[in-house]
Amino acid sequence: MSEKTYFDFAATTPVDERVVEAMLPYFNEKFGNPSSVHLYGQRAEYAVETAREIVADYINAEPEEIIFTSCGSESNNLALRGVTLARRHHANGTNTIITSKVEHHAVSKTAEQLRQFFGFGIDWLPVDDFGVVNPRTLKSKLNSSVALVSLMYANNEIGSINDIQTMAELCAKNNIPFHTDAVQAAGYLPLDVKKTPVDLVSLGAHKLYGPKGVGALFVRNGTKILPTITGGGQENGLRAGTHNVPYIVGFAKAIELLKVERQARIEHVEPLRNHIIEGVLEKISGSKLTGHPENRLPQHASFVFKNVDGNLLLSMLDEKGFACSSGSACKTGNPEPSEVLTEIGLEREWSLGSLRITLGTTTTKDQVDHFLAILPNIIDLNRSLTAKR
Ligand SMILES: Cc1ncc(COP(=O)(O)O)c(C=O)c1O
Repeated sequence: MSEKTYFDFAATTPVDERVVEAMLPYFNEKFGNPSSVHLYGQRAEYAVETAREIVADYINAEPEEIIFTSCGSESNNLALRGVTLARRHHANGTNTIITSKVEHHAVSKTAEQLRQFFGFGIDWLPVDDFGVVNPRTLKSKLNSSVALVSLMYANNEIGSINDIQTMAELCAKNNIPFHTDAVQAAGYLPLDVKKTPVDLVSLGAHKLYGPKGVGALFVRNGTKILPTITGGGQENGLRAGTHNVPYIVGFAKAIELLKVERQARIEHVEPLRNHIIEGVLEKISGSKLTGHPENRLPQHASFVFKNVDGNLLLSMLDEKGFACSSGSACKTGNPEPSEVLTEIGLEREWSLGSLRITLGTTTTKDQVDHFLAILPNIIDLNRSLTAKR
């Protein structure tokens, strides 16, 4: 077993060797700008357009419905800001955003900015104890003032999966654009935009063995949207800036591999993940699973431990060679409980002691067994140190 164990695949994945190989020629040999007329440009353009077809095919979209961005966060920003501002222009009186408090900050903080500086209202939908939105609640909130609904496919902190199908259908029936952040879900869950009437879907490459710094937004043909980065006419005029060709190629290669290997990846991580959940709940008193017990991402285990300092726990685990997270990568180091854990109704004495373990293609049974062997002592020690404060 290697000295260090990476249990944080939801924060980011390593780039698959085959992805690196596909990217390399586009740094020097085929370095052209896709907007250039000459042969160098044509080669680069061909690479970007081929990548677009591959990403589109994965979710059964049309190639022109894929807008390449720099990351999942940018895709979320483009969806929220781009659609709400366009809707205000085209459909007078649409001034409410419906979303939930368990969204990634790239959604919730963008919605907050639209409220504070652009005059939109926000209807925050409640979630149940598993962090899931009830479609009936959404249904009761839909009316002609709604500019956009944005609800995530799967939650990054607690792994729960939303019923995107029903919620997209509800929005479609009411002619309200529906956006879903599928950055965490895309590596494991199916999405067919011909069957699920979503209008916008955010994707990111670095959660599925592609490079950091590239993402995509699916924008259904006919959706009114303004660019958030203006300038050149790249990406159908929706995202100015010279294409990041090697990264776009890498993203497409990662998607190509995912298409073939997704089922095998699920079959690899799910039993190991189940073993972790059973082991932790059995061995550690004062522990709880967070998120849905069954309807959750297959590589994702998340817990809270009563009277445990979560940040200290991460450091103690790191010292023992385990790279884990308290929830989302962005929250690490913040001593306050996350909004997600507060929103699902956990009291502070629980929510401060959170731990997220997310597995991947290289995770082994030995790593999991070793982790389960050391965790109880670490929790005991953490509790005694925390109690002395
Ligand atoms: C659900 C979700 N949305 C959006 C993002 C942001 O993606 P990126 O890191 O590519 O900006 C993340 C990253 O953790 C995420 O988990």
